[in-house]
Amino acid sequence: MPVTRHAEAVAVLADARYVPPPVRADGAEGTLAWLRARVSRFSTGQEHAERRRLLVALLDEVDPAGLRQAARAMARERDGNWRGVPVAVLGAALGVEDTAAVPAAAAGYLSGEESPQADAAVAELLGQADLPVITLLLQAHTATEALIENALTRTRATADGLIANVLAGAAANGLAGDAPSWDGDVEALLHETLRHDPPLKATRRLDTRTGDEVTIDLVAVNRDPEVFPDPERFDLARGRAPYLTFGSGVRPCPAPHHALALAAGVLEGLLR
Ligand code: HEM
Repeated sequence: MPVTRHAEAVAVLADARYVPPPVRADGAEGTLAWLRARVSRFSTGQEHAERRRLLVALLDEVDPAGLRQAARAMARERDGNWRGVPVAVLGAALGVEDTAAVPAAAAGYLSGEESPQADAAVAELLGQADLPVITLLLQAHTATEALIENALTRTRATADGLIANVLAGAAANGLAGDAPSWDGDVEALLHETLRHDPPLKATRRLDTRTGDEVTIDLVAVNRDPEVFPDPERFDLARGRAPYLTFGSGVRPCPAPHHALALAAGVLEGLLR
């Protein structure tokens, strides 16, 4: 049963009787399946609390303002070729020099889709860092790049006068067009993009009482008319509306400020 109302989604996400659907626990050591059985994201109860605490402690050491500055500089240095910039910047802040393996490992991280490429990428990362650090890189990669891509798409679509000069199709593929610029409010663009076009469209829970699986439809809950006036409208004046794109309750994203900083830095590097 999909959850499409904001209040119901908040209630489910705050209720510890709803847990992430379990992942397989018998993966060979060092593989993607093995990693998924050991991360905070798919664990529950005390184990989840302990694993999450380690991640939060690591994140506490990483200053979002520094990430933003580094992401801006790297996006410029790479002449607009921004793919890989968010994890390269986060990796550098966490002591990981080479983050080239992150996309291949991240590809199956949430879905659980296993492949020799994903296993090789996990092995490569385990050679450089421990599990909590790798977890942060894998969690960060796909959603942050999707946010940047969606925001860039918005700068093309929002022909409302705020856009001075918008990126050509190349931007979404990782290449900036000629001298793109945008003098609007990057935070406002990111917040409304997060509400209207969430990078992760849904999250799932298992009801431990009934065994039923519940899908929280993040697109629908972020457009619940009870909470968001004129919800279909992409409105830069909305600010930080109470969207659920970073989750909520027992296990929300622990890094919304880091995600926003990485995305804002890349956009500034591309658009200004
Ligand atoms: C736009 C970018 C991002 C979005 C939309 C996003 C969204 C989310 C959501 C919805 C969850 C919770 C999933 C659930 O409740 O089922 C989550 C969990 C998590 N996110 Fe993010 N995230 C983003 C970026 C990041 C970044 C940059 C990091 C690390 C620096 C990160 C680290 C994590 C971690 C470690 C968890 C697992 C938390 C736990 O197990 O308790 N995320 N994220």
